[in-house]
Amino acid sequence: MSDVLYFNGRFTTTDERVLRVEDRGFLFGDAVYEVFKFLRKRPVFLGDHWRRLSNGLTAIDIRNPWTEESFASSMRELLDRTSFEDGIVYIEVSRGEGPRAHFYADDMTPTAVAFSRAYNFPDAAKKERGIRLITDADLRWKHCDVKSVNLLPNALSKKKAQRSGGDEVLLIDRDIVRECGSSSFFIVKNGRVITHPLDCHILPGVTRDRVIALARDLVDEREIHAAELDDADEIFITSTTLGVMPVNQIDDKAKRTRGPITAELQRRLDEEESRA
Ligand code: PDD
Repeated sequence: MSDVLYFNGRFTTTDERVLRVEDRGFLFGDAVYEVFKFLRKRPVFLGDHWRRLSNGLTAIDIRNPWTEESFASSMRELLDRTSFEDGIVYIEVSRGEGPRAHFYADDMTPTAVAFSRAYNFPDAAKKERGIRLITDADLRWKHCDVKSVNLLPNALSKKKAQRSGGDEVLLIDRDIVRECGSSSFFIVKNGRVITHPLDCHILPGVTRDRVIALARDLVDEREIHAAELDDADEIFITSTTLGVMPVNQIDDKAKRTRGPITAELQRRLDEEESRA
């Protein structure tokens, strides 16, 4: 099925080949991306995704092709043209096209694409059952706070985890638990909800942020040591596509199935998403 595609200000479908081979997103991974969810055609937490996209573009010195208003209206039009009610929108902005050279021109015109896609969000049974994580070394670059399209380490680690029967990979940097291949990571211990602090080692997850706001004074943002995984009371991960998802196994160690704090945060996030 072809999806609706926004390409540099016009609408087409994903059947059309729009990119030139010398786009720097393709040649250099010179691009940032976003993924937001929509329910009943209404974007969820769009302002948060806009802010992260803007910050990412500033961080890697790419001109923002949108203002907040033109971004919101382009996304609204994309959803109006979309034939289904619920799904995700993938957005990517690259530095643009130009002869292949490491030195880029200062005045490049960015390439902006966005397309909607149907998505099977986890159902109630899966949200109760949870998922299995497989650990791997974190081999990513030193700016994981930028949502760049350079996802080779994430993709290789996730594939390795999948081959070992896992649903997601947990990335560990020597002894410090950073985050997952495409989700943020939390443990609960003695009633405290603990997650890695915002720095260059993790992505500032939109869902992470919302969950922190929902859990308020229960939260400690600090590094988690690998040994702490053994006696955590509850473990869960968060992302736009998974929401709050309990972890029932890490490598070969079974973990408690969904605990009360995880269940409560799931309930509150679902409520907030449906209000968005
Ligand atoms: N992944 N950490 C990483 C490395 C991610 O790639 C993601 C999102 C998250 C969660 O962020 P958020 O709550 O804003 O979705 C954390 C997206 C969904 C993806 O790559 O498809």
